[in-house]
Amino acid sequence: MKKQFILLSTVVIGSFVLLSMTIIKSNLQDSWEVPAKYQKMVNPYADAADDERIGRILYAKHCKSCHGSKGKGDGTKAKSIDTPIGDFTEASFKQQTDGSMYYKSFIGRDDMPSFIKKIPDDEEQWMLVNYIKNLK
Ligand code: HEC
Repeated sequence: MKKQFILLSTVVIGSFVLLSMTIIKSNLQDSWEVPAKYQKMVNPYADAADDERIGRILYAKHCKSCHGSKGKGDGTKAKSIDTPIGDFTEASFKQQTDGSMYYKSFIGRDDMPSFIKKIPDDEEQWMLVNYIKNLK
């Protein structure tokens, strides 16, 4: 009898923990591990002026539909995506290294498409990183 009680309690508590974890997970963005190689990547265009507005043009063409015009994650396609998109204007986003932003933008994962083939040019890639980094 005692054994059955312990078993039942374990099952009940276990399910409760699993359920809470699922609820918490659905509200938060999953942490996104960036390989060290990318974290430490140096942005060769960190101080370059984008006179031709490359970053802005590419953002409007490829990113705005999901990330929204100001990067707040409220683009027209955002509603149909389950994964939280995040907000480029938040301090927590800006704290990352340029290399981490590069990795997430060009390697991607699941609902965040990889743009390495669509935007293969080095200068264009980093101008885009500079652009999203400076969205206010
Ligand atoms: C089809 C919708 C979609 C498009 C288009 C899109 N993204 Fe994303 N993006 C996402 C989603 C969803 C996430 C969250 C992914 C996750 O956490 O797994 C994300 C996450 C990111 C992140 C990480 C944000 C953070 O909080 O660290 C960066 C950086 C990013 N996108 C850059 C870009 C860039 C640059 C473009 C355009 C070249 C772009 N995205 C286009 C859907 C999109």
